[in-house]
Amino acid sequence: MYSEKVMDHFTNPRNVGELPDANAVGRVGNPVCGDIMQIYLKIENDVVVDAKFKTFGCGAAIATSSMATELVKGKTVEEALKLSNKAVTEALDGLPPVKMHCSVLAEEGIKSAIADYYKRQGIDPEPIVGCIGDCDHCCHH
Ligand code: FES
Repeated sequence: MYSEKVMDHFTNPRNVGELPDANAVGRVGNPVCGDIMQIYLKIENDVVVDAKFKTFGCGAAIATSSMATELVKGKTVEEALKLSNKAVTEALDGLPPVKMHCSVLAEEGIKSAIADYYKRQGIDPEPIVGCIGDCDHCCHH
């Protein structure tokens, strides 16, 4: 049912924990299942230099958190904002259709952390972060 990459990131997740010096913290809940994810980013000169996560959720949520934090490291904030749940899922060689909603959490977790980063800088995050508009799960619709 799960790809080898999903199993690898589930059994050996990368970047688990908190970042004490994070300057961007996101917390999102999945309305489909109630699972929760926290994302910690350290951003320097507009580049994500470190990322960690804590996810209270299913195996697919843990695997997608692990992959998402790997994917945003070294990216600019603008690039990290463009990370889609589809890209995270593809990097894991796919997820079963019933678990696709779990990957939305990873995308929204990163976006929520970046919104926090903008807020801390006194920038209104709404026009920048906006709605991803391609899922049925979030509360923006
Ligand atoms: Fe909740 Fe996967 S079942 S995130």
